[in-house]
Amino acid sequence: MKKYGLLATFICAPVLFACSDNKSVDTAKADEDKAAKVESGSNAEAANAHLEKHTNASIASGVDYHSFANPNEVRVTHLSLDLTANFESKQLIGSVTLDIERVKPENDTLILDTRALDIQRVTVDGENVPFEMGEADPDLGTPLSITLPSAANSVTVAYSTSPEASGVQWLTPAQTAGKQHPFLFTQAQAVHARSFIPLQDSPQVRVTYDATIKTPEALLAVMSASNDPATERDGEYEFTMPQPIPSYLIALAIGDLEFKAMGERTGVYAEPALLESAAKEFEDTEAMLEVTEENYGPYQWDRYDLLILPPSFPFGGMENPRLSFITPTVIAGDKSLVSLIAHELAHSWSGNTVTNATWRDLWLNEGFTTYLTYRIMEMIYGHDRFKKEAVLGYQDLENDVAALDENDEILAIDLRGRNPDDVFSNIPYEKGALFLREIEQKIGRENFDAFLMQYFKDFAFKSITTDTFIAYLDDTLLKQYPNELDADRIHTWIFEPGIPEGAPHPESDAFTKIDETRSAWLSGETNAADIKTAQWTVHEWLYFLNNMPESLSEAQLAELDSAFSLTSTKNNEIAHSWLMIAVENNYQPAFERLYSYLVSIGRNKLVKPLYRELSKTPDGKAFAKRAFEEAKPGYHPLTVKANQGYVE
Ligand code: BES
Ligand code: ZN
Repeated sequence: MKKYGLLATFICAPVLFACSDNKSVDTAKADEDKAAKVESGSNAEAANAHLEKHTNASIASGVDYHSFANPNEVRVTHLSLDLTANFESKQLIGSVTLDIERVKPENDTLILDTRALDIQRVTVDGENVPFEMGEADPDLGTPLSITLPSAANSVTVAYSTSPEASGVQWLTPAQTAGKQHPFLFTQAQAVHARSFIPLQDSPQVRVTYDATIKTPEALLAVMSASNDPATERDGEYEFTMPQPIPSYLIALAIGDLEFKAMGERTGVYAEPALLESAAKEFEDTEAMLEVTEENYGPYQWDRYDLLILPPSFPFGGMENPRLSFITPTVIAGDKSLVSLIAHELAHSWSGNTVTNATWRDLWLNEGFTTYLTYRIMEMIYGHDRFKKEAVLGYQDLENDVAALDENDEILAIDLRGRNPDDVFSNIPYEKGALFLREIEQKIGRENFDAFLMQYFKDFAFKSITTDTFIAYLDDTLLKQYPNELDADRIHTWIFEPGIPEGAPHPESDAFTKIDETRSAWLSGETNAADIKTAQWTVHEWLYFLNNMPESLSEAQLAELDSAFSLTSTKNNEIAHSWLMIAVENNYQPAFERLYSYLVSIGRNKLVKPLYRELSKTPDGKAFAKRAFEEAKPGYHPLTVKANQGYVE
């Protein structure tokens, strides 16, 4: 039963999931105008800009257009959570105490972000204080304005969450691997922490936190904080996060979880049915941690554990500090998809230690992390695997560049008036990484590694803007390597759409052979059954399938399927690529599997392209609608929102 969790999604489908230093924004280098706007504080401009949707006025660097909070007047520095998880009513109920710094002592209003929260009481030293809820915005939620007594330096908000909180998913026992107990997990990035805690929900406000979480007695709670693997299961759990983190990294999960160590500092939490297979699949985590430290400086977060979530988790992974949240869809049995772990681990440096100050700057998190991921994968699994993964990543980027609007191909993207959830693409990831790869190639790998190590040190526990990074480059690499680098080129990478001409172009010899194999098969020179695939890894399969021509005949599809049993592949990524081909060519024999795939997996990256493709024909849309309706009660709110439009 070891591989139970992953296989279960296939065996039991189509039953829905049933189987299985605070002022850290470095605005110093921004021009005066921009700085003035940040300083002016309350982000009221941000709110206005949001409501007015797009204006042509220039974007103020460092202004968080996705928060109502006023950290430049009153800044939250620490949170104390006291919450009870009520699985019957699907609510977190309790309070948060916020420690505050009076940045402008004359200002007596604290503005917090909330979303669908029921605020019962706001108190200072036990006494009620006045508060007011503003107008709700569909993307940003509702500002909560609290009038502070002049001496107050902490305030307590009693509240409960909505059963539909956008950042919390409540799962029934049927939606877990073990089937006996319910499960809860939060996903705060980008702007969903406010749906389960009233706080200043901006990545430029860093807080430490502690928490007391009460759960049904049989269940274990874990957080993005200190987790004691040996803690007694008694329904009450205590946590502390002593390093200041942005709100989007606050995370909680509750379920029938067990722990298994993988190394001295690394381990995995999972439901019992998944624990062994997860620990085996991810056993290289400790080695990844060590090589990353060697290259980029000490790991700052004490332990590094993984939490395996049920299949409805809407992302591949989420870098919650000390405890990355991981989809079970990457437990492939052969470590073929573990670059995801390298990625979430790498965020411990780029993202969690050095953080994007606004969502426009997301590429500083994801581009650096994607670059580091490639480097970690190369160090652990060698040059050939790295090259294959780099080509696959580059092709994802090319596909996005072909499909996206030009404005969405810019690293420092203009997100004013938009919900960050709606703008998810490979641009901040692969284009960001390619930009760093170019610098590496121009100045030399060792020099670039030294630069990165210093960068992580200089901005540790700070939230920075793209402008700050550019100013830093000006002061460092541009001065050190005036013949290799120039400011115009850097500007092009960051502010222009597309892939700049002359950018690095990843190549893999192994894939050249796959191109030849594919061509020989397409031209009828070879039969699928005669292709020697014994040595193929998942990467070869993905490259072989992803680069098929747009249209294949029924006979060709049947030939591939009978030679390689693609419709019943156990690898979720290969299944995804094959099912895309099946939908594009209306290959009906794969549609039963397609249906079970859609209702058993909630990872948006895997299901959204399928829904999008299905929605292009009336029959496809009707099929998508049936699958979506069945899957919807088990999908995460983000997956529902991202795909709803394809089935309407
Ligand atoms: N931090 C991201 C997930 C995220 C980004 C959530 C933006 C909300 C808004 C995470 O580290 C991530 O990038 N996950 C990827 C991993 C992949 C690129 C290896 C995913 O989930 O697919
Ligand atoms: Zn990431």
